[in-house]
Amino acid sequence: MKVLVTGGAGYIGSHTALSLLEAGHDVVVLDNLCNASKEALRRVEEIAGRTLSFIEGDIRDRACLDQLFKEHDIHAVIHFASLKAVGESVAQPLAYYDTNVAGTVTLCKAMQQAGVFRLVFSSSATVYGPDAPVPYQESMPRGRTSNPYGTSKSMVEQTLEDLVQSDGRWSVVLLRYFNPIGAHPTGRLGEDPQGIPNNLLPYIAQVAVGRRSTLTVFGNDYATADGTCVRDYLHVMDLAEGHVSALDRLTVLGAQAYNLGTGQGLSVLQMVEAFERISERPIPYQFAPRREGDLAAFWADPSKAEKELGWKARRSLDEMVADTWRWQRRNPHGYRTEINTTSQGAS
Ligand code: NAD
Ligand code: UD1
Repeated sequence: MKVLVTGGAGYIGSHTALSLLEAGHDVVVLDNLCNASKEALRRVEEIAGRTLSFIEGDIRDRACLDQLFKEHDIHAVIHFASLKAVGESVAQPLAYYDTNVAGTVTLCKAMQQAGVFRLVFSSSATVYGPDAPVPYQESMPRGRTSNPYGTSKSMVEQTLEDLVQSDGRWSVVLLRYFNPIGAHPTGRLGEDPQGIPNNLLPYIAQVAVGRRSTLTVFGNDYATADGTCVRDYLHVMDLAEGHVSALDRLTVLGAQAYNLGTGQGLSVLQMVEAFERISERPIPYQFAPRREGDLAAFWADPSKAEKELGWKARRSLDEMVADTWRWQRRNPHGYRTEINTTSQGAS
C-alpha cells in the first residue's frame, strides 16, 4: 500500500520509512525539515535499495496537502510530524499547539476531503500523567499533563477520538511510545539532536564520543532501587516495526490506543553502566537536583499490542546500546559528518 509518512525525515520517521519500504510498501514522506536532514532519507533509500517520494512541505499548509493527496493515491497516513522538546514547549506554547494540534487538524481535514480515513498517530506515554500506577495500561484514563508538549499529545488523542465518533469511516491507531533509543544496525541512521541533547541516550553517547565532558544525572533521591529515574527504553527499529504492524489494524473502525514499550524499567545508572560496558569508555557523571516534571518510574504493559497487533519489542538492551554507539561513533556530528570506520575494524 502507499503510505504517507509525515515527519518521515526525523528520528522515528526515517527508521519507519525504511521498515515500510522493506515490508514492500510505497512511501511518500512529507517533512518541512525543521528538525531533520534530507540526508537521512537518502540513506533510507540506500539501505532499502528502493526509492521513496519526498515532498518538502508543512502539515499546516492545506494547499500542499491537497496537492499531495491529488498526486498520490494514499492508502493510509502515519503522522509523526510534530515539535517534541518539553522545555521549549513551556517557552513557546503557541508554536507547539500550532504544529502539533492545529497541524493535525489540518491534516485530518485534507484526509477527509481526499477520502483517506486511515491514520496512525505518534502519541506518548506522557498522556497517562503523573498519577497512573505502573505498568501503564491502555484502559487507564489520560491523566494531567504538565507541559504544552504533553498537553498537545493528549489534545490530539481526544480530537481523534471525537473525530471517529462523528464519522464512522475513520480508523485511527494511537501509538503511545515509551522511550525510543538506538539506531539502525548499519550505523547509518540514528538520532541527530540539534544543540544540547534533552534526552538521556543521545547525551550519554555524546559524552562517550568526546563531544561533551560529563553527564548530569537529574536526581538520585527517587524512591527507586538506586535513587535514579526508571524508564522503559525500546529499540527504534522495534518501534518502527510496530508502525508496520499497526497498518494492518487499520481495517478496524474507530480509535484504538496501544502502548509500544518493552514492559521493563531501567534506571539512569543502569543505562550508564550498559553504555560503559558496550563502548568500553568511561561515562563520567555527576548528580544534580531533579529535573522539573520528571516522574520517578514508569513502564508499559505492552500485552495489548502483542495480542492485537502481533507486535512485541524483540531487541535487547545490549543491542539498543551497541546500535546507538555504532551510530554515534560513525557520525560524531550526526548527518553532517560520517566517519567510515569499517577500515578500522569497527562493526
Ligand atoms: P523528530 O523531531 O526527529 O521528527 C519529527 C519530524 O517532523 C522532523 O523530521 C521535523 O522536521 C518534522 N516536522 C516538524 N514540524 C513539521 C511540520 N509543521 N510540517 C512537516 N514536518 C514537520 O522527532 P521523533 O523523535 O522522530 O518523533 C516523532 C514523533 O514521535 C513525534 O510526534 C513525537 O512527538 C513522537 N514521540 C517521540 C518520542 C521520542 O522519544 N522521540 C516519544 C514519544 C512520542
Ligand atoms: C522525555 C519527555 C517526554 C518525551 C520523551 C521523549 C520530559 C520531562 N519528558 O521523557 O515528554 O515524550 O522525553 O522525547 O522531558 N536524564 C538525565 N540526564 C540527562 C537527560 C536525562 O539524568 O541529561 C534522565 C531524566 O531525568 C530521566 C531519564 O534520564 O529520568 C530519561 O530522560 P529522557 O531521555 O529525557 O526521557 P523522559 O524524561 O522519560
